[in-house]
Formats: sequence, C-alpha cells, structure tokens
Amino acid sequence: MAKIKSVYSREILDSRGNPTIETTIWTDNNHGSVASIPSGASTGKLEAVELRDGDQQRFNGLGVLKAVANVNQIIAKYIIGQDPTNQNNIDQILLNLDGTENKSKLGANAILSVSQACFELGAACEDKPTFEYTVEKYGLTIPTALHLPTPIFNLINGGKHGAGNLEFQEFHIIPSSQKQFSEALEIGSELYHNLKNILIEKKAIHSVGDEGGFAPNLFSNTDAIELLVETVESSRYKLNQDVFIGLDIAASELLKNGKYKISDVKDNLSGEQFRDFLIDLNRKYSLISIEDPFDQEDWKDWIDLTANIGKQLMIVGDDLLVTNKKRLAEAIEKGACNAILIKPNQIGTISETASVIKLAKKNNFSIIVSHRSGDTDEDFLADFAVGVGADFVKFGAPGRGERIAKYNRLSFIQEYLASKNG
Ligand code: PGA
Ligand code: ZN
Repeated sequence: MAKIKSVYSREILDSRGNPTIETTIWTDNNHGSVASIPSGASTGKLEAVELRDGDQQRFNGLGVLKAVANVNQIIAKYIIGQDPTNQNNIDQILLNLDGTENKSKLGANAILSVSQACFELGAACEDKPTFEYTVEKYGLTIPTALHLPTPIFNLINGGKHGAGNLEFQEFHIIPSSQKQFSEALEIGSELYHNLKNILIEKKAIHSVGDEGGFAPNLFSNTDAIELLVETVESSRYKLNQDVFIGLDIAASELLKNGKYKISDVKDNLSGEQFRDFLIDLNRKYSLISIEDPFDQEDWKDWIDLTANIGKQLMIVGDDLLVTNKKRLAEAIEKGACNAILIKPNQIGTISETASVIKLAKKNNFSIIVSHRSGDTDEDFLADFAVGVGADFVKFGAPGRGERIAKYNRLSFIQEYLASKNG
C-alpha cells in the first residue's frame, strides 16, 4: 500500500486574477497529484466557508495564506502516512481537525484542496483515470462514450458575472441529451460564434463575462432569451429539438426589500408575481431548466413553482441547496425542486459531495456538476461528473481556458471510452 509522503499548499491565481489555493501531494512510491480550488461570486449564504486573509495590504484582502498555512502547518502532519485510496478516512480526518459545521476553522478551500488531491492521488496509485476511479468509489452506472453528461453552455453572462445590465445571471444553450458529447460541443461552439456575430451586427457589446459568455447591455432579460432564439434559428439546428434554452436566475441577488427587481417589468415583483412571470416565460420558450428561481430562503415560492411546472422542466437548486445533505433532504421533503447543482467547494470534501449526489439520485433529482465563476485550469470536475453519472455539466461558455480545460477533458474521456468499448 502506498502512503502519503508529503503535502504542500501554495497560493495561486484564479481566472478572475484572485488568489486561490493549490495543493500538491506525493506518495512514498512517487505518485503525485495537484488540486486547485475555484471560487464563486454569487455564493449561497449557507456554503461552507472559503477562508480569506482579510489583510487589505495584500490582494485587497482576498489572499489565502491562512488557508495555505492551515494545510502546511496543521493538516499535513495528520495526512502524511495515510493511504490515499481510503477517501473516507482522509475526509474524516479533515472533518475532525476542523470540527465546525461550516468548515470555518480551517477553511473549506484548504480542506477541499487536500480532499480532492488525495482523491486524484488514489486514482494515480491504482493506475486509473480519475473518472474510472470515481465509478468504482461512487458510481451507480458504468459510463459509455454514448452517455456522457450533457453540457450546459452559458452563452450570456448577466448578474454578478457580466458588466452588462442583465439581472438574470446565466442564459444557457443546452444540446439535446440524445447527442454525443463531441456533437454537443460542436453545437455549443458554433452557436457561441453565431451569437457573437449577431451581437456585432446589432452593434451590441460582445466582450465576455466571468464564465466566457457575452455580457451585452440589453433592454431586458427576455431580450437576452430572444437573442438565443435568434442565434439558434439562424443556425442549422432546431430549437427545442436539437438545442434547448435554460436559465440561472440566481434570484437571491435580485431580491430588494422582499421584491424581485427586473428590467422586464416596471414594478418590482412579489414572489408570487415573479413565479407567474417565470411560468409565462416557460410557456413561451419551453425552457429545459430554471436554476435558483427564487431567493434561498423563499421556500414557499420554490414549492409553488415546482408544483406548477416541475413536471415540464428542471427546477435547479444551487444557492438553495449548497451541495448540503440537510438542505437537500429538506427540499425533497418539501418538494421544492427536482434538480441539484453540485459544487464540491460549497461543502468541502469529496466524500460529502458524493453522498449528496447519492441522496439526490435516490430521489430522482437530475444531477448537474458545476464549475464556479472564478475557476482554474483544473479538469477534475469532468472526470468526477462522468464517474458519478451526472446528467449534466455546467462549465460555462465554450470559450476561455479554464472552461475549455473541462470540456476538452470530457472529449478525451469520450474518445478513451469509445476506443475501449469499440
Ligand atoms: P458562482 O456562480 O460560481 O459565482 O456562485 C455560478 C452559479 O451560480 O451557478
Ligand atoms: Zn447558480
């Protein structure tokens, strides 16, 4: 059995140019792995704590030297000597060392960097690609080249991710799940470029936001959806057959004094009025998914919307569920949504992430494995999504290196599986 020989963390930069943590772990038989951790902008209130230094003299307070020191000076000595293939044991050590509900002592960024690096090291020690190792540890189905997670492409960035004036955070193009991944990627890339040309023709801003999607100034969120419709209609693909439209409202960011404020209507909307607005949008565009349609504490409207249109599309809990088993159990009991966004850094260990996925699957929730708006060139999530049998991945636009690293890894996995299975 290989044993962990060294653990070393350092501060690197993410795609927004903000500090984040990277951890490298080696075994005594010279296997190594490196894990870097992403960071959100529209974070849920109940996410595990991302530890930042708060020292205004460095990186405007965003440094992560405390988290780095927590790994190098506290965590490392307990992890050295352990078996990297025993993920439950590694994660239990991390949980015990932290001892808090929200990982505020050591930082979820510090903890996940070790958890994830150990997981990848376990795969390396068993001489397996990480997705195969994930299947063995947590998979409920065996992946094939024909059945990889369907990509959700974020083509228009609003809210906290774009400099434009759109309130909704993300406007998605989602290829049909009938398509193979390579074809889905081709569709995403073609539509991305077609949308850019349409924006140029309209003399609209066509620079991109944090997740690589365009961030134009438009009159309303509905106009952004119309732009996606126009993009698909001017392509060789058919809307609601080859490709679908989805939204991440990130509505916790829209709530002002108990009302939702959007440019599509003059008056601010109550939860019920906003629910009716979304039901209308769905009627008009046959959406495939709406993520975070309401504030993270607004259970009533979540429940109403799911009761109303939950049979037609995915109602996705991101800020609502924060990859947290207790929140998910509450949502299941209340019937508040029917799909879950999975972001390992919202909870902080690989084992806990896998156990949330298991509970979600057991209750027939759709599983969407997701990046963060501040990310790195890390491609771990592609393997993890395939391994756990996720239905979808949400890795941003088909543009910008940190997004493409993940999509390209999926395309490698597709080719690998095709060559193995014939
Ligand atoms: P975040 O956004 O990474 O800024 O939280 C992603 C999302 O809301 O899905
Ligand atoms: Zn979201």
